Amino acid sequence: MALKIHHKLTILFCVIFAAVTLGIFIFLYQTLREHTYHRIQDNLRKSVAFAEMYVREKAPHITAPQGWDTLADSIGSVNGLRATIIARDGTVLGDSDLTLSETRKVDNHRQRPEVDAALRTGFGMSRRYSTTIGTDMLYMARTFDSGPHKGIIRLALPLSEIGYISDELKKPLAVSLAIALIVAVLSAFLTSFFFSRRIAILSRAAKKIATGDFSRRIHLSVKDVLGDLADSINDMSAQVRSRIEEVGLEKSRLEAVLLSMVEGVLVVDPQGKVLLINAALKEFLHIEGNPAGRNTLEVIRNADVQENISETLARGPGVYSSEISLLYPEEIILLVHATKIIREEKLDGILLVFHNITELRRLEQVRKEFAANVSHELRTPVASIKGYAETLLDGALEDKENARDFVEIIYKDTDRLIRLINDILDLSQIESGRVDMNCAPLKIEPIAEKALAAFRKDFHKKNVVIKKRFPGQLPAVLANEDRIGLVFSNLIDNALKYTPSGGTITVSAAESGDKVLIEIKDTGMGIPDKEISRIFERFYRVDKARSRELGGTGLGLSIVKHIVQAHGGDIFVESRPDQGSTFGFTLPQA
Ligand SMILES: Nc1ncnc2c1ncn2[C@@H]1O[C@H](COP(=O)(O)OP(=O)(O)OP(=O)(O)O)[C@@H](O)[C@H]1O
Ligand SMILES: [Mg+2]
Repeated sequence: MALKIHHKLTILFCVIFAAVTLGIFIFLYQTLREHTYHRIQDNLRKSVAFAEMYVREKAPHITAPQGWDTLADSIGSVNGLRATIIARDGTVLGDSDLTLSETRKVDNHRQRPEVDAALRTGFGMSRRYSTTIGTDMLYMARTFDSGPHKGIIRLALPLSEIGYISDELKKPLAVSLAIALIVAVLSAFLTSFFFSRRIAILSRAAKKIATGDFSRRIHLSVKDVLGDLADSINDMSAQVRSRIEEVGLEKSRLEAVLLSMVEGVLVVDPQGKVLLINAALKEFLHIEGNPAGRNTLEVIRNADVQENISETLARGPGVYSSEISLLYPEEIILLVHATKIIREEKLDGILLVFHNITELRRLEQVRKEFAANVSHELRTPVASIKGYAETLLDGALEDKENARDFVEIIYKDTDRLIRLINDILDLSQIESGRVDMNCAPLKIEPIAEKALAAFRKDFHKKNVVIKKRFPGQLPAVLANEDRIGLVFSNLIDNALKYTPSGGTITVSAAESGDKVLIEIKDTGMGIPDKEISRIFERFYRVDKARSRELGGTGLGLSIVKHIVQAHGGDIFVESRPDQGSTFGFTLPQA
């Protein structure tokens, strides 16, 4: 396990402090020893000067050789040192540490460095190991001259003194340094502990920010560098948060735009993988779930879309449009605009916008058919009128019997033309919404009665039974009487036309929510399923030849539908071939 930062810092501090303390200790100890040595040296120098004076004073009174040893003894005992009196030839005359007999046996001291130096300059000093005492010694010698006696007085001090003195001082020094070391280590530990704790707080906060949690703010009580760092992290976090919020807001705005767009939007990366697809396109293509990351061809099983993407990739910048039609699950025609997405001069993907133009294309088709139908419908009666008129002019006018028939045909065809033109005009007026319906509250039953009355003769002729089902308390509707009359007569006319003799036609009405539902039911030939969706189109007839033969133009249901819708109602049909049809429509209650 990795060491915590404050442990590492503490160990580092300990090592540094220990090294420094040891250094200080060695330095102080050495300095102390030096100092002590110099003090001892100075004292010895003074003592030897004093001893010289003393010897010089006492020497003239010495008569016997043992007097020198006694003098050396007295000097040694006063100073607490070893005193030696040496003759100028090097003979030891007396020594405070030796008895007289021992003195006699001592080597000649002439060659001792301090003695030699004293003989040459009057003063000599030497530091060396004494074999006699077995320790380092400091020797100082001075020459004396008391008239009859000349010689050297030498004092010696064992340097173990220095050891004693410095040992005395070593302990308190070591103790105080040890205390200093402990205090330093403790304070280093505490400092690094608090320091690392604050660093840990910063580190935790930074990690939180990295995971996207910007809620936490760092509070450090001490305002130092770390405090500044904490403030900077807080500022940074606040800024990042507001940026992210901005970006998020823009993203959701964009998503809302994409979502509410009626156009389908698809963004693919340069490799053809789906990056984004909006709800409208998913609905067009019946795609479930989120296909992001999948291959476009997998998602939209259409080679045209794939080709569009490949072509856009291959070509230069610009918008490329194409029309594609999908047959499954339902026929849908889409106009696709594709363009490259270039960001920082690099291809980032392709944007495809899909417009559903199925209805547009259908309407275009209807319009084309309408134009063709109108000319066809007009041409037939006009050609017939022209033909009969020519025949009349060519002489048939004189043929009274036929002439009347011909004029009747011309009259009928003219009538048909007028009806046709009126129907077309009515229809285009209603369709354009220019006609004000002038709605007023009115009862349905009388309107239905009036329309049925107009067909009474035809019912009889065709032996068709009429049934009416109107409840006593049927609410009034808000409608235009003439227009609704037209709806009834068109629907009754159809029911009669497409019901063979012996059939039944039932006209009924009922309250349905806030509307009134009216139904015209027949037991006629019915309409095949696949035709039902088209019968409300202009000029559309299931069986063209038969319809025309029956005088129909195929405009009736179209007019009916538009009138009902202009009233705010709905129209619908239920039909089974050979079983009959039910046409129903609703009108708002007054
Ligand atoms: N009750 C019905 N039973 C069976 N088929 C019907 C019925 N009503 C309408 N249709 C079919 O729908 C077609 C369209 O009807 P629509 O009323 O628009 O035209 P039309 O009756 O042929 O001519 P118009 O009403 O202009 O004289 C008809 O040609 C017919 O094929
Ligand atoms: Mg009709």
